[in-house]
Parts: sequence; C-alpha cells; structure tokens
Amino acid sequence: MSGTGKSTAEARANLAFVKYWGRADPTLNIPLNGSISMTLDGLVTSTTVEFRKGLARDGLVLNGEVAGERERVRVAKHLERMRRIAGEQRFAHMESVNAFPKSAGLASSASAFAALTVAAADALGLEKSREELSAIARLGSGSASRSLFGGFVEWKPGKDHDSSIAVPVAPRDHMDVVDVVVLVETAEKRVGSSEGHDLTGTSPYMDARLAHIPARLDKVREAILARDFDTLGSESEREAIEFHTVAMTSTPSLLYWLPETLRFLHAVRTWREDGVRVWMTLDAGPNPHLLVPRADVTRLLARVKSLGYEGARVIVAGVGEGPRVVGKHLF
Ligand code: DP6
Repeated sequence: MSGTGKSTAEARANLAFVKYWGRADPTLNIPLNGSISMTLDGLVTSTTVEFRKGLARDGLVLNGEVAGERERVRVAKHLERMRRIAGEQRFAHMESVNAFPKSAGLASSASAFAALTVAAADALGLEKSREELSAIARLGSGSASRSLFGGFVEWKPGKDHDSSIAVPVAPRDHMDVVDVVVLVETAEKRVGSSEGHDLTGTSPYMDARLAHIPARLDKVREAILARDFDTLGSESEREAIEFHTVAMTSTPSLLYWLPETLRFLHAVRTWREDGVRVWMTLDAGPNPHLLVPRADVTRLLARVKSLGYEGARVIVAGVGEGPRVVGKHLF
C-alpha cells in the first residue's frame, strides 16, 4: 500500500435530467438505460477514512452519530471491494458529514459513495483514473458513478463492470442551470431507490419507457451542448413524469408524490405562462426540483415563497465541481 492509510474527500450530489431506474445486473449495478445529470453545488458529503490495525470491523459515524447497522454494512461492503483491489487487510474507521437532509430524494447515496470511493482510493494509494473510480463508486450506488465528475455528466450503461462508467458531457461553467429544491418533506423515505430499481419489470410501462430513452438521451445531451435551456427543462419534466409513471404502476405501487408535489407541478405550468423559465423534475421522493436559468432564480424564489416555502425549506444549487481530496480530516 502506497497511501497514507488516512484520507478525506468531498463529493457532491447530482440531479439526473434523464434518470437511472432499473438495472440489468443488480449485483454490479449495471443500469437498463443511460442517464445524464448535473453535479450540484453545495450539496456536499465529506468523508474521512482511516485504515487502522486492531479494529474488529469497519465503523461508520454519520453526521456525528454511530450509523445504523444497515448503513454500516452497505458501506463496509463497499470498502471490502476496495480493500481487495488494494490488498489491504485492516478495517477502517469512517466519519461522514452531509450538508443536506439525508434520504429526502436528494441522492445522498451518490455524494456519499463518491466521497467514500475517492477518500478510500487515496488512503489506499490506488492509482485509478476518474472513469475507473466512477465504476467502483457505481458498485456502492448507481448514481454515485456520476458524482465522480463536476459539471454535466453522462453515465454510459455499458455491458460489464469496466464499461459501465460516467463520462463528462460539459464542464461546470458551460451553462448556468440552477436546481431550486423545495423540501416539501424532509423525513426519510419509506421506499429507497434500491428497492424501486428491482420492481421496474413489474410495470407494464417500462418497455415503452426504455424504447425511447436513447432518443431522449441524445436530445438532452444536445440541449446541454447547445445551451438550450428550454429543451433541457421540458425533456427533464417529461422524463420525471414518465419515470414516476413506471414507479406508480409497479407492483407494489411506489407513490412518491405528495399533494404538495402535484401542487408544484401545476404551479410551474402557471409560472411558465407568466414568463418564468422554470421546469420541474423529481427524484425518488416527493420534493420538487425546479430547474431555472440563473437569471430567473429571484423571480422563481418569490413564487415559491408565495406557496409557503422559504429559508431552510428551499435549497438553491448551481452546477457543482467534481470530488476532491482535502487536507482537513473530520477526526
Ligand atoms: C431516481 O443511485 O440511489 O435518483 O444504485 O440503489 O443506490 P442505488 O440507486 P440510486 O438511484 C437513483 C435513482 C434516481 C435517478 C437518478 O439519480 O438517476
């Protein structure tokens, strides 16, 4: 091992314009379709990993509290894969801090597994490219593969471990898109994405969704490259509705929407008629993600406030940078 055995990295969550929903290989997290996202500024997870002699197992502290067994085991499994690659024997102590509410449909697993992968690789002295680290992060959480890059990112579904990787589409400063996240609910969601991915085969609409995803990926990628905000927004909104149609029509039915979610879907239509360039998407949760060009953020926030949401209930995230190793450890 050439690393120092201890490292800290930070990584950001991402918001998918075309969603990952359903997998061809549940063990390797090979998705049924490609996806495209933007990395989110400010929605940061910082993680310190230290491999130590004398530990009986991997330990995890999340936001200052000892993690539950389910989370600890998921993270320990990921670390075990990296230990095997590096030929490391020691267990590790890990501490992780999220700068945003966990499991509120903000893809905190993406920033978490991206930060963990980068920190552990550095601690273990693994010489890997960002693409290779993206494949490793994917094994922990599919969407984490995309958080290995800043800016606009595409996850190519691939056919096996090495080919299922994320690649950059455009850098952070290419287009100033803002994601205004409205926390209509901050409680942990009852059905996580992992369970949802396994149910897609039960929806009669999944085949229809998959049939036109390649064309949608082309459209969204081209819209980003052309800085065509309205096409990017309208495709993202249609995509979110289609993805939730599959979720709702799975068995059992996954109904992530709350009355407030629908209220915002209607509101954005009205706001657009009034000239605000806003489109809405959703992850596997009820919280609206409102996509706006930077120039329209102030007007949008006034509208959001008129529906009763301001302060800590609203997160404004621009396009963020990729993960990096930082010098300051959490412990
Ligand atoms: C709806 O990456 O959270 O946010 O691989 O089981 O961790 P796991 O799933 P996850 O799924 C993300 C689903 C989504 C869409 C997306 O981000 O592409």
